[in-house]
Amino acid sequence: MAGDVNEGYALRLKGVTKVFGGIKALDNVDFDVRAGEVHCLAGENGCGKSTLIKIVTGVYRPETADLIELFGEKLEAITPVMARAKGVSVIWQDLALFPNMSVAENIAFDEMVGLRPKGVDHAGMKTRAAAVLARLGVTLDLNAPLESLLIAQRQVVAIARALMNDARLIFMDEPTASLTQSETDRLLDIVRKLSADGVAIVFVSHRLAEVLEIASRVTAVRDGRLVGVYPTKGMTQARLGELMTGHLLEDKVVAASKDSGPIVFQASGLTRPKQFTDIDLTIHAGEVVGLVGLIGAGRTELAHTIMGMTQAASGTMQLQGKPYRPASIRDAIAQGLAYVSEDRLQLGLLQKQSIADNAAIAVLDTLLDGTGLISPAKKDDLITGWVKKLGIKIGKPENAISTLSGGNQQKVVLAKWLATQPKLLILDSPTVGVDVGARAGIFRIVRELADQGLAILLITDEVTEAMFNADRVLHMAQGRIIAAHDPRTTSVAQMEAAIYA
Ligand SMILES: Nc1ncnc2c1ncn2[C@@H]1O[C@H](COP(=O)(O)OP(=O)(O)OP(=O)(O)O)[C@@H](O)[C@H]1O
Ligand SMILES: [Mg+2]
Repeated sequence: MAGDVNEGYALRLKGVTKVFGGIKALDNVDFDVRAGEVHCLAGENGCGKSTLIKIVTGVYRPETADLIELFGEKLEAITPVMARAKGVSVIWQDLALFPNMSVAENIAFDEMVGLRPKGVDHAGMKTRAAAVLARLGVTLDLNAPLESLLIAQRQVVAIARALMNDARLIFMDEPTASLTQSETDRLLDIVRKLSADGVAIVFVSHRLAEVLEIASRVTAVRDGRLVGVYPTKGMTQARLGELMTGHLLEDKVVAASKDSGPIVFQASGLTRPKQFTDIDLTIHAGEVVGLVGLIGAGRTELAHTIMGMTQAASGTMQLQGKPYRPASIRDAIAQGLAYVSEDRLQLGLLQKQSIADNAAIAVLDTLLDGTGLISPAKKDDLITGWVKKLGIKIGKPENAISTLSGGNQQKVVLAKWLATQPKLLILDSPTVGVDVGARAGIFRIVRELADQGLAILLITDEVTEAMFNADRVLHMAQGRIIAAHDPRTTSVAQMEAAIYA
């Protein structure tokens, strides 16, 4: 059959089904990618994106598949060895690099597998790693331990490792989730370069703007089922969000004119050399204050000092009118603060523990029964409550947290902190890796909490997120708060112009 000659396709899948514990993670899905194409796989948290990637890379075997074809060759099943031999590579959601090894060792890792330490050709390995980095147009210190690198640089190392294999089909599972705008732009340039070289790229991202910018086609999946395959030309973010979630999501400014409650948190002249200078910040009960700025502006550093993780050199802080000078993060939490950190996936979860334990860990004392033991009923209520409110997609609460999709793990971290009912809640990039539908859900809860009297500091890289969800937006640059904006009278465009000027 003429239609079966498929030199133009890197990958074709038809009728793929994958079941976990009775739940269909993928239900009869078709998917194809052409050579040199950037193809986006889009859908809500837990819809099956990572599962599909794991099938093509041989991590999982599907229950059924009508067709599996790689570079024109029909296969019964794919094993990891086969996938690698055929030039299929993945950059995993969590990168899967080795922090203690050098840049060169990470890039050339696959070459080293199975060799004795003495058998490794270090000089040759470095030359090849350097060549791959040059192809990407990036310079990195090959001897530096990976852990000394910024997350964006680690991302590049992961891509370089993929290319070492002569990859012809690369899956990128949320490669931009932890990147800032300028780092994302650079990554997208690399993706374009690879695509121009004929490498097929499957790109997964919850940031719909970049999906539409980089991909030529998008496959939308909902609840494990194929919604459809669409050209990105002419597609809008609203339409793509609708395809993913099944309903239209509308952003609007929520800041309302209302009397602000009493002051919850106040900082005056807070300074920590090289990080932030002379910070005056007041947050009232019921208020969501947005804090935007470029990377390096000092926002996370400020949050760390408020949380007692670092100490200010000068200036003062007050909590509900009393002097506040936390000695440690424990101390800050004991005094009524909560912090959803930027790097919560590493810091926020105990991967081997159950979903329920992870969600309950910060509030164990509220779950005690009369005898001083954890009440299973109270714990169940807590978990089912949050699962419903945040739309967390889980099997059973007692399953390990590692069985959840990446975005659903994020939601568990959020639930864990929200359950502490703090006075001041600091959210640092709370929607990284979270799908569009769930973002709306998270901000609905943030607003509910504010309405209950919490003071909230929302740190975000996305100006729209601050503008639509905060009552006031502060702009931080080079360690100082340089402007305050009212979302009701400032437009997103004005705000973005000020920040990226
Ligand atoms: N090893 C596993 N054991 C049990 N269930 C699993 C396992 N891996 C995935 N699942 C389930 O399969 C479904 C699809 O998960 P998957 O990781 O593919 O989602 P995803 O689309 O990548 O989501 P995200 O955007 O959050 O990363 C989810 O319901 C998830 O909980
Ligand atoms: Mg995933």
